[in-house]
Amino acid sequence: MSLLLIGLLMVGCEFGSTGNTTDGDVPTDGDTAVDGDAADGDEPDGDVEPIETVMLNAPAAWITTPATKTPLNIRQSWTGDPATSITIAWRTELTDTAAYTPKVWFAKASDVEGEGEAMQLPYAAALVAEGTGLNYTAGYDSNADYPFVLWTVEVTGLAPHTDYYFRAGTFGAVDLEAKTMADPELSPIFSFRTGLKKGAAEPFRFMSCGDSRGAYEDIAANAERLNALDFDFWLFNGDMTNGGSASEWMSWFNAMDPINNNNVVMVQQGNHEFVAELYYNQFNLPKMGAPLAEEWQEHAWSFNYGNAHFIGLNTITEMVVEAEKAWLEADLKAASEDDDIDWIFVMIHHPAYSASKKHGSTDRVVTHFVPLFEKYGVDAVFAGHDHNYERSCSVRQSNCQTDGSGVVYLVVGGFYSDGYSNGTDWWTVTSFHGDLHNYMAVDVNDKSASFVAYDGDGNQLDTFTLTK
Ligand SMILES: [Fe+2]
Repeated sequence: MSLLLIGLLMVGCEFGSTGNTTDGDVPTDGDTAVDGDAADGDEPDGDVEPIETVMLNAPAAWITTPATKTPLNIRQSWTGDPATSITIAWRTELTDTAAYTPKVWFAKASDVEGEGEAMQLPYAAALVAEGTGLNYTAGYDSNADYPFVLWTVEVTGLAPHTDYYFRAGTFGAVDLEAKTMADPELSPIFSFRTGLKKGAAEPFRFMSCGDSRGAYEDIAANAERLNALDFDFWLFNGDMTNGGSASEWMSWFNAMDPINNNNVVMVQQGNHEFVAELYYNQFNLPKMGAPLAEEWQEHAWSFNYGNAHFIGLNTITEMVVEAEKAWLEADLKAASEDDDIDWIFVMIHHPAYSASKKHGSTDRVVTHFVPLFEKYGVDAVFAGHDHNYERSCSVRQSNCQTDGSGVVYLVVGGFYSDGYSNGTDWWTVTSFHGDLHNYMAVDVNDKSASFVAYDGDGNQLDTFTLTK
């Protein structure tokens, strides 16, 4: 995400059912509004919808008009603590930023009444967060035909490991006494789940994949099935598109919508994310402090989830690898000394060890990162770039360690892209051709982590377990 998007405004107002306050953040004058421009008690302008209960199934009156206001390609990530925050972003083709305040209307799933078409959210239980936008009317290379604005809202103050429903978009004045909302322009209902508190040794599942490279039809054909799997978040290790243009990104986002709309997807830049500025502005990732220099923010990041520490590293050039090295060592050292952390997982695009017939191992990763992975006890490294599946032995000092004291390197680089021929080398335990496609699920349960690799249809390819 660009620096231009920094400075998000978070509003944690809880709607009061009578206009009285429900907590200290809510105005107390009886004319409570979710933003300041309707606190004067005047009747709001424009279309007004009753909000005694909020229908969460997107009634026709709430579908946006004009269509340029429609919130598109809603996605989720963590820029702050996964246990208590979520960052939700979307785009609109509306480019008049002055007339649009991005908002997320959300509530705990436990507060929502009914199911499916009958879902309703009592407005007394709803909360609203506001954010900001970044205008893209200038376009990129061939993308001038796709002017759009990226909107970002960071929601904070959430309950750990809790399911929420939300709608994203914008709306005008809310008058709680009249039970009205002006100009609602909101998405359908989606869901998000906050993370486990740091140190909590409760079970969780994350997914790992990489390299779709334009396979939008195959992704779209599988996205609903994948979204239905019971996982907590998703790691995507790069090369989502072929060229990184705005039109390609829109195809990728459209295909990924069922997953992106409802789940946190943490990403890493691959070598095919050619328009880096667009990549970093579209995705919102954790910002690290020193010693990671300002220019490399979001290239390298980490977060804690329960008893695990997750790290993402950019591997596309020697320069960026060297630039990340000091931060990586500091981050790994802190995690390895943290009693709350049992597991350290790393996501990169270029594999350290790969026996693929296409690219193979990556010298700059082996030279600069592998010694740090070994020194600080990284458990597993997820990479892509080679469009096939491979699992290494437990590697330390360029040898397989029978006592499991090394690092397991995974190539999970076939998320429906054209497959590459796999191979084997001294580190290889399991290897599958990329034509099968692949993705992985990892179940972490206290001192045990179970890995299952699947082919593109969901058939099991490989499974193994690490224990502490
Ligand atoms: Fe790649």
